[in-house]
Amino acid sequence: MIEYQNVSLTCKVNGPILKNLTFDIQEGEFFVLIGPSGSGKTTTLKLINRLIEQTDGDIRIQGKRLKDFDLRELRLETGYVLQQIALFPNMTVAENIALIPEMKGLNKEETLKKSRQLLTKVGLDPDSYLDRLPKDLSGGEKQRIGILRAIIANPKVLLMDEPFSALDPISKGQLQDLIKDLHEEFKMTTVFVTHDMDEAVKLADRICLMRAGEVVQLGTPDELRNQPANDFVVEFMKNRGGA
Ligand SMILES: Nc1ncnc2c1ncn2[C@@H]1O[C@H](COP(=O)(O)OP(=O)(O)OP(=O)(O)O)[C@@H](O)[C@H]1O
Ligand SMILES: [Mg+2]
Repeated sequence: MIEYQNVSLTCKVNGPILKNLTFDIQEGEFFVLIGPSGSGKTTTLKLINRLIEQTDGDIRIQGKRLKDFDLRELRLETGYVLQQIALFPNMTVAENIALIPEMKGLNKEETLKKSRQLLTKVGLDPDSYLDRLPKDLSGGEKQRIGILRAIIANPKVLLMDEPFSALDPISKGQLQDLIKDLHEEFKMTTVFVTHDMDEAVKLADRICLMRAGEVVQLGTPDELRNQPANDFVVEFMKNRGGA
């Protein structure tokens, strides 16, 4: 579904940032990128919606080279959730959620109906939340709205960069359960960045462990646990239960 073929990114000043990444993210897969700070997780993710361009190699989505996508079409087909959700402050929850469906030209009534269904699904009463402004939401609520906004128009790919790392442990656990449920229901191909191995093990079909711009090991949580490629993997798996 998303194929990285010998993808490298070299910065003239700082040298190599990504080194020869080759792997294939499957359709419907929950794919987790994990690794220490600076290992290249965010950069690997941002290549997919072309916020960053690789210097070598190709990335294909469903066989089509990223370069051959119309940028607007690509962005509409890749939902994007960040650590701090940037909801538009002057727009209500309903307006924020309807943004991408509107750009895609979807029917307004259908969008409202779906917004109501999704809000209910994530435990927010639509009658109470649809007309609120972002300033009247808690951090966890904003994050829920951000996720809904990213998935409401059925993107091909959902990109999430440490979406829960700013939340308290209880909200974090709830949102992990929520995204797991949503993924089971809608099966969107998801690429999720975290530095938290507990989170990775809980959510991932496969985990890609990176270090210094390279893939150290790519496999299921069980494979990383039971057949670690080297001591770095062993150490990383040990850090569970921490940050
Ligand atoms: N625009 C840029 N120009 C030069 N170097 C960059 C740029 N963006 C990122 N880097 C470097 O690329 C490396 C990878 O950064 P990246 O943001 O992908 O790491 P990360 O794994 O997401 O880290 P973190 O866990 O801290 O978010 C880092 O060494 C960073 O300094
Ligand atoms: Mg990052």
